[in-house]
Amino acid sequence: MADNTKNIIVLVSGGGTNLQALIDAQARGELGGGRITCVISSKAGVYALERAKNAGIAARVIARKDYPDTAAYSAAMLDAFRAERADLIVQAGFMTILDETICKAYPNQMINVHPALIPSFCGKGYYGLHVHEAALKKGVKVTGATVHFVTEVCDGGPIILQKAVAVEQDDTPETLQKRVMEQAEWHILPEAVRLFCEDRLTVENNIVKIRP
Ligand code: GAR
Repeated sequence: MADNTKNIIVLVSGGGTNLQALIDAQARGELGGGRITCVISSKAGVYALERAKNAGIAARVIARKDYPDTAAYSAAMLDAFRAERADLIVQAGFMTILDETICKAYPNQMINVHPALIPSFCGKGYYGLHVHEAALKKGVKVTGATVHFVTEVCDGGPIILQKAVAVEQDDTPETLQKRVMEQAEWHILPEAVRLFCEDRLTVENNIVKIRP
C-alpha cells in the first residue's frame, strides 16, 4: 500500500519553541498525519537541536557561515530537502534568507511563521525581537502572528492563518514576544501544518482558501 504520510522538514536557527509546539502537536496526533522527519539548523549549538534530539528526530546543521553566499547556501539546502524527500518545509524561527530556486522547487510547500500581523512589521530586517521593538515604537494596540507560504518576496507569500494579540501599556519587546508566541504562534503554526497535511489548503490568485 502507498504511504501517504507527508514528510515535514523543520528549519530552525535558535531556541526552537515553535519546533517544540510542532513536536508536541505531533505527539498528540494533531499534525494531520504528517511526520517531522528532519530538523535542519542554520547554526550549530542552538537549543532547537536539543529539542529534536530529545524527541528522537534526525537533526543536521547546514551552517550559513560555511557558504559564501545565499545561492550556494540555498543549493546545499535544496540537496538536503531532496535527500529527505520533503513534502513540506516549515521555517520555524529560521533567520536565514533562501533564494528563489527553493521557492520554485517547492511552490506552496514551504511555510513560515512571522511574529506580526503581515503586512505590518515584516520584510527585510524584521525578525525576532526587532519585530516587537518596531510594534512598540509605533504604539500599535494589537499585534499577533502570521503563518504564510514562502515566495521570493520576503514575508510576502499567501497568508494561511493569522491570530491577533493585545499589546499592553507596560510591554517590553521581551514580554510582547513571549505573549505573541504563547497566544498565537504556538497555535497557528501546528494548525497550518495540519491543514496542509490534510490537503485542505489551495492557493488561487495569491489567496489561500481552506477547505472546511
Ligand atoms: C519566533 O517569534 C518566530 O516567529 C520568529 O523568531 C522567533 C523564533 O523563536 N521568526 C522570525 O522573526 C522570522 N522572520 P523560536 O526559535 O523559539 O521558535
